[in-house]
Amino acid sequence: MQISDSSSRILAGLLEARTGQQLTMSRRWRIETALSSILRERGIGTLDELITILVMGKDPGLSNLVVEALLNNETYFFRDRTPFDVLQRHALPALAVKRAAKKRLRIWSAGCSTGQEAYSLAMLFAEQPDQWNGWTIDILGTDVSGSVIDRARNATYSQFEVQRGLAITQTIRWFEETADGWRVVEPLRKSVRFHVHNLLELPPGPGSFDIVLCRNVLLYLSPEKKALAFERIASSMAVDGYFMLGAGETVIGQTKKLHADGKARGLYRVDNRDKSDRRAGDERRSASRA
Ligand SMILES: C[S@@+](CC[C@H](N)C(=O)[O-])C[C@H]1O[C@@H](n2cnc3c(N)ncnc32)[C@H](O)[C@@H]1O
Repeated sequence: MQISDSSSRILAGLLEARTGQQLTMSRRWRIETALSSILRERGIGTLDELITILVMGKDPGLSNLVVEALLNNETYFFRDRTPFDVLQRHALPALAVKRAAKKRLRIWSAGCSTGQEAYSLAMLFAEQPDQWNGWTIDILGTDVSGSVIDRARNATYSQFEVQRGLAITQTIRWFEETADGWRVVEPLRKSVRFHVHNLLELPPGPGSFDIVLCRNVLLYLSPEKKALAFERIASSMAVDGYFMLGAGETVIGQTKKLHADGKARGLYRVDNRDKSDRRAGDERRSASRA
Protein backbone atom coordinates (compact mmCIF):
# COMPACT_ATOMS: atom_id res chain seq x y z
CA MET A 1 0.00 0.00 0.00
CA GLN A 2 1.36 3.41 -0.96
CA ILE A 3 1.66 6.33 1.43
CA SER A 4 2.43 9.80 0.18
CA ASP A 5 5.51 11.67 1.40
CA SER A 6 3.38 14.31 3.05
CA SER A 7 1.37 11.65 4.94
CA SER A 8 4.49 9.86 6.16
CA ARG A 9 5.91 13.22 7.29
CA ILE A 10 2.71 13.88 9.28
CA LEU A 11 3.00 10.48 10.99
CA ALA A 12 6.70 11.02 11.71
CA GLY A 13 5.90 14.45 13.19
CA LEU A 14 3.13 13.03 15.40
CA LEU A 15 5.37 10.22 16.69
CA GLU A 16 8.26 12.57 17.44
CA ALA A 17 6.06 15.14 19.16
CA ARG A 18 4.53 12.52 21.48
CA THR A 19 7.58 10.31 22.21
CA GLY A 20 10.76 11.89 20.81
CA GLN A 21 11.17 8.87 18.48
CA GLN A 22 12.25 9.76 14.95
CA LEU A 23 10.80 7.82 12.05
CA THR A 24 13.79 8.31 9.77
CA MET A 25 13.39 7.70 6.01
CA SER A 26 15.05 4.29 6.35
CA ARG A 27 12.45 3.21 8.94
CA ARG A 28 9.35 4.43 7.09
CA TRP A 29 8.81 1.00 5.55
CA ARG A 30 7.44 0.02 8.98
CA ILE A 31 4.43 2.31 8.65
CA GLU A 32 2.30 0.02 6.52
CA THR A 33 2.84 -3.12 8.65
CA ALA A 34 2.47 -1.19 11.90
CA LEU A 35 -0.83 0.44 10.93
CA SER A 36 -2.49 -2.35 8.95
CA SER A 37 -4.53 -3.72 11.87
CA ILE A 38 -5.84 -0.23 12.72
CA LEU A 39 -6.99 0.20 9.11
CA ARG A 40 -8.70 -3.20 9.21
CA GLU A 41 -10.39 -2.69 12.58
CA ARG A 42 -11.62 0.81 11.70
CA GLY A 43 -12.60 -0.08 8.14
CA ILE A 44 -10.30 2.63 6.74
CA GLY A 45 -9.32 1.98 3.11
CA THR A 46 -5.90 3.60 2.74
CA LEU A 47 -3.12 5.13 4.81
CA ASP A 48 -3.75 8.54 3.28
CA GLU A 49 -7.41 8.29 4.35
CA LEU A 50 -6.22 7.51 7.88
CA ILE A 51 -4.02 10.62 7.85
CA THR A 52 -6.96 12.75 6.71
CA ILE A 53 -9.05 11.51 9.67
CA LEU A 54 -6.11 12.20 12.00
CA VAL A 55 -5.54 15.70 10.67
CA MET A 56 -9.25 16.57 10.87
CA GLY A 57 -9.20 15.50 14.53
CA LYS A 58 -12.52 13.67 14.15
CA ASP A 59 -11.40 10.64 16.14
CA PRO A 60 -9.42 11.70 19.25
CA GLY A 61 -8.51 8.12 20.32
CA LEU A 62 -7.07 7.34 16.91
CA SER A 63 -3.87 9.37 17.25
CA ASN A 64 -2.93 7.46 20.43
CA LEU A 65 -3.52 4.16 18.69
CA VAL A 66 -1.39 5.25 15.73
CA VAL A 67 1.50 6.48 17.92
CA GLU A 68 1.50 3.26 19.97
CA ALA A 69 1.41 1.12 16.82
CA LEU A 70 4.44 2.97 15.41
CA LEU A 71 6.58 2.35 18.49
CA ASN A 72 9.01 -0.54 18.49
CA ASN A 73 8.14 -2.70 21.52
CA GLU A 74 10.62 -5.52 20.90
CA THR A 75 11.74 -7.08 24.20
CA TYR A 76 12.33 -10.43 25.89
CA PHE A 77 13.26 -11.87 29.27
CA PHE A 78 16.92 -11.36 30.30
CA ARG A 79 17.56 -9.60 26.98
CA ASP A 80 21.26 -9.81 26.03
CA ARG A 81 21.93 -11.64 29.36
CA THR A 82 25.37 -9.97 29.97
CA PRO A 83 23.88 -6.77 31.47
CA PHE A 84 22.11 -8.85 34.10
CA ASP A 85 25.42 -10.60 34.94
CA VAL A 86 27.12 -7.20 35.18
CA LEU A 87 24.46 -5.99 37.61
CA GLN A 88 24.79 -9.21 39.58
CA ARG A 89 28.60 -9.03 39.77
CA HIS A 90 29.20 -5.28 40.23
CA ALA A 91 26.21 -3.11 41.10
CA LEU A 92 24.30 -5.41 43.44
CA PRO A 93 27.21 -6.41 45.73
CA ALA A 94 28.17 -2.72 46.08
CA LEU A 95 24.58 -1.67 46.80
CA ALA A 96 24.10 -4.56 49.25
CA VAL A 97 26.84 -2.97 51.37
CA LYS A 98 25.82 0.67 50.85
CA ARG A 99 22.13 0.10 51.58
CA ALA A 100 22.63 -2.48 54.36
CA ALA A 101 21.15 -0.19 57.00
CA LYS A 102 17.87 0.53 55.19
CA LYS A 103 17.66 -2.77 53.32
CA ARG A 104 15.82 -1.09 50.48
CA LEU A 105 16.58 -0.81 46.78
CA ARG A 106 14.70 1.18 44.16
CA ILE A 107 15.07 0.18 40.52
CA TRP A 108 13.59 1.82 37.43
CA SER A 109 13.14 0.03 34.13
CA ALA A 110 12.51 3.01 31.82
CA GLY A 111 10.91 2.09 28.48
CA CYS A 112 10.01 -1.34 29.85
CA SER A 113 7.65 -2.31 27.00
CA THR A 114 5.54 -5.35 28.01
CA GLY A 115 7.41 -5.85 31.30
CA GLN A 116 9.91 -8.64 30.61
CA GLU A 117 12.89 -6.51 31.72
CA ALA A 118 11.25 -5.57 35.02
CA TYR A 119 10.20 -9.15 35.79
CA SER A 120 13.70 -10.40 34.84
CA LEU A 121 15.07 -8.07 37.52
CA ALA A 122 12.52 -9.38 40.02
CA MET A 123 13.66 -12.95 39.22
CA LEU A 124 17.31 -11.96 39.70
CA PHE A 125 16.56 -10.97 43.31
CA ALA A 126 14.15 -13.83 43.97
CA GLU A 127 16.83 -16.31 42.87
CA GLN A 128 19.17 -15.06 45.64
CA PRO A 129 16.94 -15.38 48.70
CA ASP A 130 19.84 -15.62 51.19
CA GLN A 131 21.24 -12.30 50.02
CA TRP A 132 17.99 -10.34 49.76
CA ASN A 133 15.77 -11.84 52.43
CA GLY A 134 14.33 -9.02 54.56
CA TRP A 135 15.02 -6.37 51.88
CA THR A 136 12.39 -4.28 50.14
CA ILE A 137 13.12 -4.44 46.42
CA ASP A 138 10.94 -1.88 44.70
CA ILE A 139 10.96 -2.22 40.89
CA LEU A 140 9.19 0.36 38.73
CA GLY A 141 8.54 -0.25 35.03
CA THR A 142 7.45 2.69 32.87
CA ASP A 143 6.67 3.21 29.21
CA VAL A 144 5.12 5.96 27.11
CA SER A 145 2.68 3.43 25.64
CA GLY A 146 -0.44 2.64 27.68
CA SER A 147 -1.14 -0.59 25.80
CA VAL A 148 2.23 -2.18 26.68
CA ILE A 149 1.85 -1.07 30.30
CA ASP A 150 -1.55 -2.82 30.42
CA ARG A 151 0.13 -5.98 29.16
CA ALA A 152 2.99 -5.62 31.67
CA ARG A 153 0.49 -5.28 34.54
CA ASN A 154 -1.36 -8.31 33.28
CA ALA A 155 1.93 -10.26 33.53
CA THR A 156 0.75 -12.99 31.15
CA TYR A 157 3.02 -14.20 28.35
CA SER A 158 2.69 -16.64 25.47
CA GLN A 159 4.69 -19.85 25.20
CA PHE A 160 6.89 -18.14 22.59
CA GLU A 161 7.53 -15.16 24.89
CA VAL A 162 8.58 -17.26 27.89
CA GLN A 163 10.78 -19.46 25.72
CA ARG A 164 12.68 -16.38 24.58
CA GLY A 165 15.27 -15.86 27.33
CA LEU A 166 13.99 -18.11 30.11
CA ALA A 167 15.20 -21.57 31.07
CA ILE A 168 12.41 -24.14 31.50
CA THR A 169 13.22 -24.30 35.21
CA GLN A 170 12.63 -20.53 35.48
CA THR A 171 9.30 -20.77 33.66
CA ILE A 172 8.13 -23.52 36.00
CA ARG A 173 9.37 -21.71 39.09
CA TRP A 174 8.21 -18.16 38.36
CA PHE A 175 5.08 -18.61 36.23
CA GLU A 176 1.76 -20.39 36.51
CA GLU A 177 0.00 -21.76 33.46
CA THR A 178 -3.39 -20.15 32.84
CA ALA A 179 -5.94 -20.38 30.03
CA ASP A 180 -4.37 -17.21 28.54
CA GLY A 181 -0.73 -18.24 28.81
CA TRP A 182 1.99 -18.11 31.46
CA ARG A 183 1.31 -15.67 34.32
CA VAL A 184 4.10 -14.37 36.57
CA VAL A 185 3.55 -15.68 40.12
CA GLU A 186 2.08 -13.31 42.67
CA PRO A 187 5.19 -12.74 44.86
CA LEU A 188 7.11 -11.49 41.80
CA ARG A 189 4.15 -9.46 40.53
CA LYS A 190 3.96 -7.74 43.90
CA SER A 191 7.55 -6.49 43.71
CA VAL A 192 6.97 -4.71 40.38
CA ARG A 193 4.81 -1.64 39.67
CA PHE A 194 4.05 -0.19 36.24
CA HIS A 195 3.14 3.35 35.15
CA VAL A 196 2.72 5.20 31.88
CA HIS A 197 5.53 7.77 31.72
CA ASN A 198 7.34 9.70 29.02
CA LEU A 199 11.10 9.77 29.56
CA LEU A 200 11.28 13.31 28.25
CA GLU A 201 9.18 14.48 31.19
CA LEU A 202 10.22 14.83 34.86
CA PRO A 203 11.30 11.46 36.32
CA PRO A 204 8.96 9.46 38.58
CA GLY A 205 11.19 9.62 41.69
CA PRO A 206 13.82 12.38 41.58
CA GLY A 207 17.15 11.43 43.18
CA SER A 208 15.91 8.11 44.44
CA PHE A 209 16.74 5.23 42.10
CA ASP A 210 19.68 2.98 42.94
CA ILE A 211 19.61 1.39 39.49
CA VAL A 212 18.07 2.72 36.27
CA LEU A 213 17.87 0.68 33.07
CA CYS A 214 16.95 2.39 29.83
CA ARG A 215 17.84 -0.14 27.17
CA ASN A 216 17.00 0.07 23.47
CA VAL A 217 14.76 3.09 23.99
CA LEU A 218 16.83 6.13 23.03
CA LEU A 219 18.32 4.85 19.77
CA TYR A 220 16.05 6.90 17.50
CA LEU A 221 15.91 10.12 19.51
CA SER A 222 17.49 13.27 18.07
CA PRO A 223 20.75 14.32 19.83
CA GLU A 224 18.87 17.11 21.67
CA LYS A 225 16.08 14.81 22.92
CA LYS A 226 18.66 12.16 23.87
CA ALA A 227 20.55 14.74 25.94
CA LEU A 228 17.27 15.72 27.62
CA ALA A 229 16.42 12.07 28.37
CA PHE A 230 19.89 11.51 29.90
CA GLU A 231 19.43 14.63 32.00
CA ARG A 232 16.07 13.33 33.26
CA ILE A 233 17.59 9.92 34.00
CA ALA A 234 20.61 11.37 35.84
CA SER A 235 18.29 13.47 37.99
CA SER A 236 16.26 10.39 38.92
CA MET A 237 19.32 8.56 40.29
CA ALA A 238 20.74 8.39 43.80
CA VAL A 239 24.20 9.99 43.85
CA ASP A 240 25.86 6.59 44.01
CA GLY A 241 23.35 4.84 41.72
CA TYR A 242 24.00 2.86 38.55
CA PHE A 243 22.68 3.37 35.03
CA MET A 244 22.55 0.85 32.21
CA LEU A 245 21.93 1.27 28.46
CA GLY A 246 21.34 -1.37 25.80
CA ALA A 247 24.10 -3.23 23.99
CA GLY A 248 25.65 -0.91 21.41
CA GLU A 249 24.36 2.28 23.09
CA THR A 250 26.57 4.78 24.88
CA VAL A 251 26.41 8.09 26.74
CA ILE A 252 29.79 9.13 25.32
CA GLY A 253 29.46 12.36 23.37
CA GLN A 254 25.75 12.57 24.25
CA THR A 255 25.68 13.97 27.78
CA LYS A 256 27.88 15.31 30.56
CA LYS A 257 25.46 14.15 33.23
CA LEU A 258 26.60 10.51 33.20
CA HIS A 259 29.94 8.81 32.75
CA ALA A 260 31.16 5.25 32.27
CA ASP A 261 31.91 3.27 35.43
CA GLY A 262 35.64 2.49 35.24
CA LYS A 263 35.15 -0.85 37.01
CA ALA A 264 32.26 -2.38 35.10
CA ARG A 265 31.75 -2.20 31.35
CA GLY A 266 28.18 -1.23 30.48
CA LEU A 267 27.45 0.59 33.74
CA TYR A 268 27.27 4.37 34.06
CA ARG A 269 27.33 6.66 37.08
CA VAL A 270 26.10 10.18 37.73
CA ASP A 271 28.80 12.68 36.80
CA ASN A 272 31.00 13.80 39.74
CA ARG A 273 30.24 17.48 39.47
CA ASP A 274 26.55 16.69 39.61
CA LYS A 275 27.16 14.39 42.54
CA SER A 276 28.37 17.21 44.78
CA ASP A 277 25.33 19.37 43.85
CA ARG A 278 22.99 16.46 44.35
CA ARG A 279 24.64 15.28 47.58
CA ALA A 280 24.05 18.75 48.96
CA GLY A 281 20.43 18.41 47.79
CA ASP A 282 20.13 14.99 49.45
CA GLU A 283 21.56 16.38 52.68
CA ARG A 284 19.11 19.28 52.58
CA ARG A 285 16.24 16.83 52.00
CA SER A 286 17.37 14.59 54.93
CA ALA A 287 17.73 17.62 57.19
CA SER A 288 14.22 18.85 56.34
CA ARG A 289 12.79 15.36 57.02
CA ALA A 290 14.57 15.09 60.42
C1 LIG B 1 12.55 -1.65 21.97
S1 LIG B 1 11.61 -1.47 23.41
C2 LIG B 1 12.83 -1.89 24.65
C3 LIG B 1 12.22 -2.60 25.86
C4 LIG B 1 13.25 -3.02 26.91
N1 LIG B 1 13.86 -1.87 27.51
C5 LIG B 1 14.29 -3.91 26.31
O1 LIG B 1 15.43 -3.48 26.07
O2 LIG B 1 14.00 -5.09 26.05
C6 LIG B 1 11.51 0.31 23.54
C7 LIG B 1 10.37 0.81 24.42
O3 LIG B 1 10.59 2.19 24.69
C8 LIG B 1 9.33 2.83 24.71
N2 LIG B 1 9.52 4.28 24.50
C9 LIG B 1 9.79 4.92 23.33
N3 LIG B 1 9.87 6.24 23.54
C10 LIG B 1 9.66 6.46 24.87
C11 LIG B 1 9.59 7.61 25.68
N4 LIG B 1 9.77 8.85 25.18
N5 LIG B 1 9.33 7.45 27.00
C12 LIG B 1 9.14 6.22 27.53
N6 LIG B 1 9.17 5.09 26.79
C13 LIG B 1 9.43 5.19 25.47
C14 LIG B 1 8.55 2.14 23.60
O4 LIG B 1 7.16 2.29 23.77
C15 LIG B 1 9.01 0.69 23.75
O5 LIG B 1 8.14 -0.08 24.53
